[in-house]
Amino acid sequence: MTDPTAAPNLLSGLPHVGRAPVLVTGGTGTLGRAVVRELLDSDVPARVLTRRAEADTDAQVYVGDLRTGAGLTEAVQDVQAVIHCATSPRGQEVDVDGLERLCNALAEHNPDAHLVQVSIVGCWDSPLPYYRVKAEAERVVGESKRPYTIVRATQFHEFVERICGVHVGPVGIGLSGLRFAPCDTAWVAQRLVDVALETTAVGGTVELAGPEVLSARDIAVLTAHLSGRPTPHQIRIPRIGRTLTALGTGSNLPGEQATRGGRSYAQWWADRAIE
Ligand SMILES: NC(=O)c1ccc[n+]([C@@H]2O[C@H](COP(=O)([O-])OP(=O)(O)OC[C@H]3O[C@@H](n4cnc5c(N)ncnc54)[C@H](OP(=O)(O)O)[C@@H]3O)[C@@H](O)[C@H]2O)c1
Repeated sequence: MTDPTAAPNLLSGLPHVGRAPVLVTGGTGTLGRAVVRELLDSDVPARVLTRRAEADTDAQVYVGDLRTGAGLTEAVQDVQAVIHCATSPRGQEVDVDGLERLCNALAEHNPDAHLVQVSIVGCWDSPLPYYRVKAEAERVVGESKRPYTIVRATQFHEFVERICGVHVGPVGIGLSGLRFAPCDTAWVAQRLVDVALETTAVGGTVELAGPEVLSARDIAVLTAHLSGRPTPHQIRIPRIGRTLTALGTGSNLPGEQATRGGRSYAQWWADRAIE
């Protein structure tokens, strides 16, 4: 396991780091907002690609749409890197076709810019349709013949809170044997910015995961405890079908080579409560 306390290859905000802007697609989303904050805290100009002209962000707004390619030419001009966080549950049209449009715009207008593709740990091992799309997106980036790095993360704290905190009154619903190594988007954002600004060792795949492995039940109990609710009585859903079986056997958990770090789920929850 990588030492999570070791210094990153490149500390954000060092004076020699280029000050050309970085484009954050999906800069209005859960991860993208944290990436924008990290860039601005590091004195790196940030651009956000969004479909909404009135987007609430401190970054420079570039209105565009990955489904059509609108706005991409302008957004990629003169950036040193693109941190690609945009995604859609509809998958293919944004995450694969839209990514191809982004790669084409970069090839034509800014071929040297570093593309940082955000992906998911275990995407190659899960039959979940969204994970198939993420694996396909990695293939698109890998074949794009351009400077790129793929950064896979485990499930975000926000996501596990949403799916493990599901309860109907006193009854919670949990998948038997489901475990997570949930991670802190603020920490993932720091790593993404470090990777994006790295000028010497572009390429390859990085895996990021939170500091601990928790069962879905642990998360449900912690969430109930932290929010002052009674511990839910869990109904266990058996592992039926390929998707649930893959998740139940830990295909979403990080391997030995993953970098572990960031706040634990409980710490993240506690910090958010006092923010
Ligand atoms: N959630 C997790 O637990 C998790 C775990 C590991 C990795 N990841 C990966 O992390 C990345 C970010 O996920 P997230 O949860 O932060 O996403 P999110 O909160 O759902 O945000 C999605 C973003 O995509 C943008 N977007 C959607 N459709 C678009 C389009 N047609 N054109 C341009 N932008 C579009 C949205 O921008 P506007 O609405 O402003 O246009 C929004 O900012 C994804 O690659 C995801 O696969 C997520």
